[in-house]
Amino acid sequence: MGAFIPQEIIRQKRDGQTVSDADIERFVAGITSGEVADAQISAFAMAVFFNGMSAEEGAALTLAMRDSGDVMNWQSLGFDAGAPIVDKHSTGGVGDKVSLMLAPIVAACGGLVPMISGRGLGHTGGTLDKFEAIEGYDPYPSIDRFAEIVRTIGCSIIGQTGELAPADKRFYGVRDVTATVESIPLITASILSKKLSAGLGSLVMDVKFGTGAFMPNYAASKELAENIVRVACAAGTPTRALLTDMNQVLGRTAGNAVEVVEAIEFLVNPATADARLMEVTLALAAHMLVIAGIEYSVEIATEKARQSLASGKAAELFEQMVTAQGGTPNILSNYQATLKVAAKAYAIKPKQAGIVTGMDTRSIGMAVVAMKGGRIDPKASIDHSVGFTDICQIGDKVDADAPLAIVRCHSDEQAREAIKAVQSAVVVADIKEAPLPVISEVIEG
Ligand code: URA
Repeated sequence: MGAFIPQEIIRQKRDGQTVSDADIERFVAGITSGEVADAQISAFAMAVFFNGMSAEEGAALTLAMRDSGDVMNWQSLGFDAGAPIVDKHSTGGVGDKVSLMLAPIVAACGGLVPMISGRGLGHTGGTLDKFEAIEGYDPYPSIDRFAEIVRTIGCSIIGQTGELAPADKRFYGVRDVTATVESIPLITASILSKKLSAGLGSLVMDVKFGTGAFMPNYAASKELAENIVRVACAAGTPTRALLTDMNQVLGRTAGNAVEVVEAIEFLVNPATADARLMEVTLALAAHMLVIAGIEYSVEIATEKARQSLASGKAAELFEQMVTAQGGTPNILSNYQATLKVAAKAYAIKPKQAGIVTGMDTRSIGMAVVAMKGGRIDPKASIDHSVGFTDICQIGDKVDADAPLAIVRCHSDEQAREAIKAVQSAVVVADIKEAPLPVISEVIEG
């Protein structure tokens, strides 16, 4: 192998040539070690931005970034080679509490779900923040304890431990300040390098589109979904993606403690759960069961997932997981006392009565951030108790007695800002408009 000259690799990509796996690996090693300068990372990112990457290059970049840090090996932790280790990753949304119900549902149906989740950033919420609303919940057990919980209960939801894809951390930092975040191959490698470091057997992606999604445009979200599936499969992890609608808040709550309440009520009393939230959760569960080889048909898998809710098994496993990770025991019966929801509640009335026809979902997420229920600075701490409940949906009738939402906060000042934000985010008219289906497409590998 010749000398490592980063500018030669950049030149190849600039001129639209294919970069070899070995060169991609050396470039990524240089990002991790510091041998490659920020200017070179940014030039490489811009060359990829304009010229794209083949599935093979994308797989090489993903695997090199994954291997830049800790990678879990379930066999060395005592699991069988064919164990159905499966996870879901969402590109992020507002009110997206699906993971809280999904992990125990899949576990109840025979899957093993080691979920490494993240914190919210910007308008999207994070699963880890939601779990931290539960008193005592330890999102950082040792790896052995994490494995033990997955083995005995079937699922464990933790935060990032050890060093996960450090090359991505540096690469993303440079992309963020050089207008190169919006590159499908780079987003793909960034997401997958972190997700695949959990040593998964298979993966289901929830790629969101619409006003509350990371990528609002449908065509771009679809391209991202297709590319993630192509690259993950090329990297050896069977993956499929669901394209799901984020043109309105998912479910009826947005925040942290309020979302955990909705998730627990979903598990305990599925008959009263929000229909769109139920549909997307069951579909993701079914595809996880199929891709993990537990079931052959999505229809049968959906029924099995539904049964795990009806029998109370999924709820039971959620409670066991929370207890195993140090959270309040008996959370299914104690949740109202345990979860601290801000004391003040104000109904947000629409400016005019009518039917909800649209929503700037991102602005509702940012209204949660404005109350400190989310963050712009990755290191900032948050207030888990604030948020919205009873959020209207497209097609709902709203008027003085049927509000747009209820805001839970600490002061009149916070309430005033939140009311203003929600009133301008929700479009009310006098015609009825059908909402988009919550699942628009499934992309299979
Ligand atoms: N999320 C990620 O993790 N990486 C990206 O590049 C974009 C979104």
